Amino acid sequence: MDPKALFSLSYGVFILGSHDNTKINACVTNTCMQVAANPTRIAITVINQNYTCGQIKECGTFALSVLDKSVTFPTIEHFGFHSGRDTDKFASFPYSLDANGNPYLNDQICALFTCKVISSTDLGTHTLFVAEIEDSKVMSDKAPLTYADYHKDIKPKPGAEKMEDSGKKIVGWRCKICGYEYEGAELPSDFECPICGHPAEDFEPIYES
Ligand SMILES: Cc1cc2nc3c(=O)[nH]c(=O)nc-3n(C[C@H](O)[C@H](O)[C@H](O)COP(=O)(O)O)c2cc1C
Repeated sequence: MDPKALFSLSYGVFILGSHDNTKINACVTNTCMQVAANPTRIAITVINQNYTCGQIKECGTFALSVLDKSVTFPTIEHFGFHSGRDTDKFASFPYSLDANGNPYLNDQICALFTCKVISSTDLGTHTLFVAEIEDSKVMSDKAPLTYADYHKDIKPKPGAEKMEDSGKKIVGWRCKICGYEYEGAELPSDFECPICGHPAEDFEPIYES
């Protein structure tokens, strides 16, 4: 199997908002497709260890915002590289709530779907949710961002990040997408995260303490 074949699959990029009894929260996803009509249904997959995954299981609803091409990397970083388990992602971020009380961004999105889960399947690393669209809105006339656009235009190029701890020994590598930790100083350049499938360039060094 050549995992690079998976890079040929086309996706959008989304902000997936949900809530539980504690807080509203959202994460970045790239997996969503329409899977049925009358009633219209979509499918999304969410990494089991993401805080958002547990929230969707708990409340049974979510708001899916489609990011447009005006989105900036700090927005993706804010929702996609940090967990709502450790931080309140909406404390300082402009948002609105849909009819189910799930958050969506006030700008940088071109469409919004208010969704109710009708089934969920545990796929091991991810949960597949099939949901009915209760409401949908066009939010701007800007073009949707694709996953390929994200990699080409939004994501910082390797080496752009400042290595503040570069004097210390590297003992491992952490996937910035899902938090998986690889043990060892050298991460193979063709390594792929066994949890979320992201490539070596999405890993950050773990330094000796
Ligand atoms: C471009 C991009 C695409 C991502 N795609 C997905 C995805 O399809 N499913 C998923 O569960 N997480 C995906 N993630 C990772 C989550 O956004 C990330 O793990 C986030 O920190 C989870 O936050 P939470 O713990 O608050 O839910 C993606 C992240 C990025 C930057």
